Amino acid sequence: MAERLRQPLRLGSATIRNRLYRAPVLEGAGDGDDAVQTYTRAFVDNAVHGVGLIIQGSSCILPEGRTSPGMTCVDSRAKVMRLAPMVRAVKAEGASIFIQLGHGGIYAMEGWHEPYATNRSGPVLASSPLPWFLRSSFRGVPVHVMTSDEVRAMAARYGEVAGWAREAGYDGVQLGSANAKLLDQFLSPFYNRRSDEFGGSVENRARVLLLIREAVAERAGEDYPCTVKVPAEVAPAGFPRARRDDALEVARLAQEWGFDAVTPVTVSVFPDTTLSRGSAPDNLRTNKAMAQRLRRAAPTRLRRGTIKAGYWWGARRAPFAPIWNRELFAAVSQRLSIPVFAVGGIRTAADVRSILDLGEAEMVGIGRPFYAEPDLAERILAGDSGPRLCRNSNRCVPAQMLGMPGVCYNPEVHKVARAAT
Ligand SMILES: Cc1cc2nc3c(=O)[nH]c(=O)nc-3n(C[C@H](O)[C@H](O)[C@H](O)COP(=O)(O)O)c2cc1C
Repeated sequence: MAERLRQPLRLGSATIRNRLYRAPVLEGAGDGDDAVQTYTRAFVDNAVHGVGLIIQGSSCILPEGRTSPGMTCVDSRAKVMRLAPMVRAVKAEGASIFIQLGHGGIYAMEGWHEPYATNRSGPVLASSPLPWFLRSSFRGVPVHVMTSDEVRAMAARYGEVAGWAREAGYDGVQLGSANAKLLDQFLSPFYNRRSDEFGGSVENRARVLLLIREAVAERAGEDYPCTVKVPAEVAPAGFPRARRDDALEVARLAQEWGFDAVTPVTVSVFPDTTLSRGSAPDNLRTNKAMAQRLRRAAPTRLRRGTIKAGYWWGARRAPFAPIWNRELFAAVSQRLSIPVFAVGGIRTAADVRSILDLGEAEMVGIGRPFYAEPDLAERILAGDSGPRLCRNSNRCVPAQMLGMPGVCYNPEVHKVARAAT
């Protein structure tokens, strides 16, 4: 029998050729006509080198939900269909491709990125009124708490976009539901203080996922794979958060509600680098283009300070650790019969194999290293050492936030890569 890493995985209508996936890391492809080329450049190489599945980074179901200028909008059928040639090219090389569907809620650019805030067409969307300590950071930003009907309409929207994704050839969708995105703002008691059917108990806070699952089945087909990220949160002392037990319960509900797989992650209640543990990115200071973009995005010292403090806090709270979500995804795996996707600090071929062989997950994902090493899958599949270049510097993080290309920004890495060629 083939070793586990090379065994295909059946997920609804999709068959993924092996157990290694490229985790969603924003490609900065933006929203223009060249988005398809940018994705093609990034993904086809990964497919050629044997990756099983690519999860395209968060793509926004509504333009006013974007969290970065480089985020692709998938708010119309035409916009999704224009990505179809890239999807075909990836699949022609034997890989599968999912698209992550997202919305930033209160962290949409209209809330913090000056040019977008100046031209905003409406308020930012929230699950509940802002917690008191966020109010000064959002001064002057109109915030709209979604009504129950609007939550239902939003869920229907996810379904509609999933239908277009299937038409464009994507093999499935993942919901961007961690790291303080809109869906996490429902899952997390840090944000969600609603008293309708979408607030209160864990099940109520997660109910929006059920509606989305139903909408995806209705618009994209019962067999269309729909997967979800499940957050266990860290928060400043004394503040409510989605705890580990909440995450286990949300994962259980996801299975009950027909999701095809879950990705459990430990993250902050803030959209910071706990999602991609490592250093606080120093290039906001050292990279002139980046510093300039940050000044344009956040012209006041207070706002720039808040952004930098977020990075600092994230790095301090969550330094890099190998396979940092292991305890969580293994615990979820033990309790569920649907596949669990592992992600977070997985760096060696031996890590990948041990996670699979111990049955701690059914798919193993690697994110940042793919930026500098598009051929990574080939080496992992061959049992080679794995990523060689990623330093977990998180210099790629502000780049994506400021609308720059999704690539490695570590000059040392480029030196090493050049020397190796
Ligand atoms: C620049 C950057 C962009 C990311 N974009 C997304 C995203 O769009 N959606 C998502 O769920 N996770 C996103 N992530 C998180 C990654 O998918 C992954 O979970 C994280 O980087 C940890 O894995 P790694 O240690 O292998 O990089 C992003 C991470 C980085 C560094």
